[in-house]
Amino acid sequence: MNYKDLIKQLDKNLPDHIGVIMDGNGRWAKKQGAGRLWGHKNGVESVRALVEASVEIGLKYLTIYAFSTENWTRPDDEVKGLLKLILDSLINEIDSMSKQNIVVRFLGTDIGLSKEYQSKINKECQKTYNNNGLNFNIAFNYGGRLELIEGIRSIATKIQNNTLTINQINEETISQELYTANMPDPDLIIRTSGEKRLSNFLIWQSAYAEFYFTDTLWPDFRKSEFIEAILDYQKRQRRYGGTK
Ligand code: FPP
Repeated sequence: MNYKDLIKQLDKNLPDHIGVIMDGNGRWAKKQGAGRLWGHKNGVESVRALVEASVEIGLKYLTIYAFSTENWTRPDDEVKGLLKLILDSLINEIDSMSKQNIVVRFLGTDIGLSKEYQSKINKECQKTYNNNGLNFNIAFNYGGRLELIEGIRSIATKIQNNTLTINQINEETISQELYTANMPDPDLIIRTSGEKRLSNFLIWQSAYAEFYFTDTLWPDFRKSEFIEAILDYQKRQRRYGGTK
């Protein structure tokens, strides 16, 4: 079925927040006899397609896993290439995204990033902060455990300063310390390329998420399959640990 017909099948029960683990760029490039960065470059086209589709269906939050805290261990030229690709793509796309009323945010730690790189990212993202359409989050230099560590440190500091008591620690206070503060938890997590792992992505926030796994490699994952994933989600019944 084509994209337009698939969209017509969606019901009103759209997920508020979709997280995407974009996997398989390296294998896609290898199949083409090309280097890994070629896979990442083509992966950017899939990102653009998903952002467009998200705007078209009126999704509120889309979070993509672009670079994890573990990705620093990749070969130097791949790391450098990815950092450049992500920044270049942001700079190239920001005006078009802003025109589509999208708010762009980077979620992750500053650790390991140069001040120059951080300020370039911030400068671009700030252009979108007056928008109120799709919230497009780029999980970048992101690790779920590090996010929790940073949050716990902040809570401990508040206790030390007597601005928080131990008994006030609950799900809400912890959620408020995460990079995703004030955002809904992801309802649906998509992972491409046949791998079935969370890989340190939104580990706290995904407690009740539904999962959609596909063998499609990320550069081949485009709008139609994105809608198919949402249709699949809409067939499921979420119970949050209770009964129907
Ligand atoms: C995983 O595939 C992919 C990544 C770690 C990088 C994904 C990043 C992009 C597509 C660029 C994002 C662009 C913007 C605009 C934020 P892999 O390299 O692990 O593939 P493999 O498992 O086949 O080796």
